[in-house]
Amino acid sequence: MRYFITGFLAVICLVISLAGFQGSLTRNRPIEIFPDMDRQARVRPQAPNLFNEIHGAKDGIGSRLPVTGTIARGIPFEDTAVNTGKKDGSDGWLELNPLEVNEKTLKRGRERYDIYCTPCHGKAGDGNGITSQYNLVAADLHQMRLVQIEDGYIFDVLKNGYNLTTNSVGIASYRMPAYDSKMSNEDLWHVVSYIRALQYSQLGRLDEVSEDDRAGLQKIINAE
Ligand code: HEC
Repeated sequence: MRYFITGFLAVICLVISLAGFQGSLTRNRPIEIFPDMDRQARVRPQAPNLFNEIHGAKDGIGSRLPVTGTIARGIPFEDTAVNTGKKDGSDGWLELNPLEVNEKTLKRGRERYDIYCTPCHGKAGDGNGITSQYNLVAADLHQMRLVQIEDGYIFDVLKNGYNLTTNSVGIASYRMPAYDSKMSNEDLWHVVSYIRALQYSQLGRLDEVSEDDRAGLQKIINAE
């Protein structure tokens, strides 16, 4: 019995000195008796792949490119008016926003506009955003050309960007950035409607004002 206890303690000491306590840290590779498929041969993203070099497409690229024409799930892709801003089956711009416009969609449009567009175009849409102090002068959204242009055209500008230019170090970018990747089609149309509301806010006519306010406004206009 005495030999057994001594031997038992010796074995415990041996195991602890070899394997350490549970949770203790080491830089050595762990001894894996049952590896449980923890480590497997695989290709790291972006890394070259020799197998592919020899047997596959022979381009050495580890990650395969999606098949041409692949479309991510949930991304609208058909050439419909809602996706392109163009009349179905033609190249002409859609006259009006094809989605329903109500108070909720306008509020959503204002929220998106204030987040994405005010830095350059300003809260009122007159092109006097904060960037105008740093030499990036954005378009005045109240210019008559943009008031008269079709909703579909504005949608296309927001979705795909406008005026591709190349900077001094040769990097091409749109002066008016594309919002395709930042907003859904629905939100883009809501922003189009909000731009219309902004434009309308500057183009109201006197006979659209309530009778009570009209006299007062007329006085101000006459004074000017
Ligand atoms: C980084 C600054 C910047 C931001 C942000 C920006 N724009 Fe612009 N936008 C511009 C500039 C600059 C132009 C003028 C491009 C030109 O004429 O060269 C422009 C032009 C436009 C035009 C007129 C295109 C035409 O045909 O003349 C519209 C409409 C417009 N922006 C809407 C928007 C809306 C809506 C947003 C928000 C979703 C937005 N922009 C965000 C910089 C910006």
